[in-house]
Amino acid sequence: MLNQLPNCITSPSWLQLIQWIADPIGFQQKYSQKYGDIFSMRLSGIGSYVILSHPQAIQEIFSQDSKFDIGRGNKLAEPLIGRNSLMLMDGTRHRRERKLLMPPFHGEKLQAYAEQICLITKQIASQWQFGQPFVARSTMQKVSLEVILQIVFGLTEGERYQKLKPLMTAWLNMTDSPLRSSMLFLPFLQQDWGTWTPWGQMKSRQRDTYELLQAEIAERRTKNNQNRGDVLSLMMAARDENGQPMTDDELKDELLTILFAGHETTATTLAWAFYQVHQNSDVLEKLHQELDSLGENLNPMEIAQLPYLTAVCQETLRMYPVIPVLFPRITKSSINIAGYQFEPDTTLMPSIYLVHYREDLYPNPQQFRPERFLERQYSPSEYIPFGGGSRRCLGYALAQLEIKLVLATVLSNYQLALVENKPIRLQRRGFTLAPDGGVPMVTIGKR
Ligand code: HEM
Repeated sequence: MLNQLPNCITSPSWLQLIQWIADPIGFQQKYSQKYGDIFSMRLSGIGSYVILSHPQAIQEIFSQDSKFDIGRGNKLAEPLIGRNSLMLMDGTRHRRERKLLMPPFHGEKLQAYAEQICLITKQIASQWQFGQPFVARSTMQKVSLEVILQIVFGLTEGERYQKLKPLMTAWLNMTDSPLRSSMLFLPFLQQDWGTWTPWGQMKSRQRDTYELLQAEIAERRTKNNQNRGDVLSLMMAARDENGQPMTDDELKDELLTILFAGHETTATTLAWAFYQVHQNSDVLEKLHQELDSLGENLNPMEIAQLPYLTAVCQETLRMYPVIPVLFPRITKSSINIAGYQFEPDTTLMPSIYLVHYREDLYPNPQQFRPERFLERQYSPSEYIPFGGGSRRCLGYALAQLEIKLVLATVLSNYQLALVENKPIRLQRRGFTLAPDGGVPMVTIGKR
């Protein structure tokens, strides 16, 4: 006997939308306590979503990915990343594009990037002044933006590179609070009435970015890219099964997608890692011991294999999911998930946050305890910071490598401290969640 429909939140849909924008974590906690592992919400002007947090249900979704439209569910992101983005594609087009984009982010290619990540980190950390506070999240954003520009775009100098950096930062900072993020969720605010309106400013920065990217692509087309190892060159050289290369519009939208999906997410996770490591002196001590065991000449790929460092990275991603829910999955036909029969066009959304705070999987979930990842192996539906199935994050390997290498490089060379020893809240930042205030820190010495 199948259940008909999960419990539905009864408050007005406009109120649910405001709560979702303002505090997506509190909202989910409240209703999961009331309704359990599955419930549905209605967001005014956007649609209805079924939120799921049982690993079995999530496993059923991942294993039947082809029965959902996922790109269609990401429509809200289209004004930012362009309609040729991998994130917005479905079916054969999505499979083809992923095949083109995947190789530069995995395997041997990653080894080539490792050294570069350590160099970038050292160069940015060398600008710290002893005793002068800095905001961990913004500093980490400088690192991750540099990683994307150098590794993905292959830009290390020149006018275009100098222009892209402040442009991207200014663009993403436009949604740095719940209020400023609301324009992403409220279509009536998406009016381009020139640069004196927030949306107009957003679009203007997007146009400027597109122009710079177009100029870069055009220049590359006139040059021999054979010896370049960056992702843009690899993308330009890639051919699909019909021998077709990616078009300029596809390249631009994919670059923007990677920039958008890849740099704030990694920077935010790093800021949380620094916060937790400096809140827990035993964790810092264990990390130092592990790093010291490698001796003087640290090899980046050896660092990336360290078990405790890996567990610290996993535990950070567990406690602080950068996006509160996975991509929405829209049913293409009637489907049975978790004992419920869902009609076509129902949107299912697995909650990363609720899964990662399940007591039955992660006892004492509010506690930062990397050891849990050394004591137990979690299945792909019990631990989902990078999602799963055919949509698993394209950059998951690069992101984890970067988090570990940046953390290891900084901790091996500097002694840092938190400016204030108080709890930090998660706050909405566009589609992501980030530490409120960005984690102020101070350099107190060298190691
Ligand atoms: C800590 C860092 C990161 C986190 C937590 C993260 C998380 C995620 C999540 C949860 C998804 C959705 C998966 C799903 O719904 O099943 C996703 C998708 C995606 N991520 Fe990441 N991500 C990170 C870093 C990156 C990086 C560094 C890149 C690129 C270099 C990247 C590129 C993408 C792309 C392109 C997609 C869409 C995949 C598709 O639609 O097939 N991400 N990411």
